[in-house]
Amino acid sequence: MLSEKLLKALNDQMNFEFSSAHYYLAMAAYCDEQDFEGFAHFFWVQAEEERFHAEKFYNFINEKGERAVIDAIPKPQNDFDSLKDVFETALEHEQEVTKRIYNLMDIANEESEYSTVNFLDWFVTEQVEEEDTMEGLIKKIERLGEKGQGIFMLDKELAQRTFDPAAEEEE
Ligand code: FEO
Repeated sequence: MLSEKLLKALNDQMNFEFSSAHYYLAMAAYCDEQDFEGFAHFFWVQAEEERFHAEKFYNFINEKGERAVIDAIPKPQNDFDSLKDVFETALEHEQEVTKRIYNLMDIANEESEYSTVNFLDWFVTEQVEEEDTMEGLIKKIERLGEKGQGIFMLDKELAQRTFDPAAEEEE
């Protein structure tokens, strides 16, 4: 049993994670149009991760005997100025996710709802990684520039990104 306030906040975050997947698909489409297929693949995999995050919220809400309520997904940003702009937008998005997770954690702590605190701990750790990934790629793009051999090599490297939900759970 969860309070109405906490249940609403958890449902909001589940929907935010689903919309994050959509957000990253729009970034993938931009990269594909620019012929950066590795970067596009990176964002497809990122979208998979976001759906996995949403599913974790969905399952937790169910396990607590409550109902997950699926909301509409807002239209994501589709236009970007450059690869760097894409990754800066992605970083801002992840910083917003972190803020939201912290806010959820505050509510769970205020209510002494320790099972939710325990559930959210995974996301606190995950967000450090999410922000670090985007920050790291911004730095690489700045160093390499958006034309030439270097960015081509990075594009090839990102084409290898994979996602394994089981490995994610173990982190
Ligand atoms: Fe679900 Fe990228 O945070």
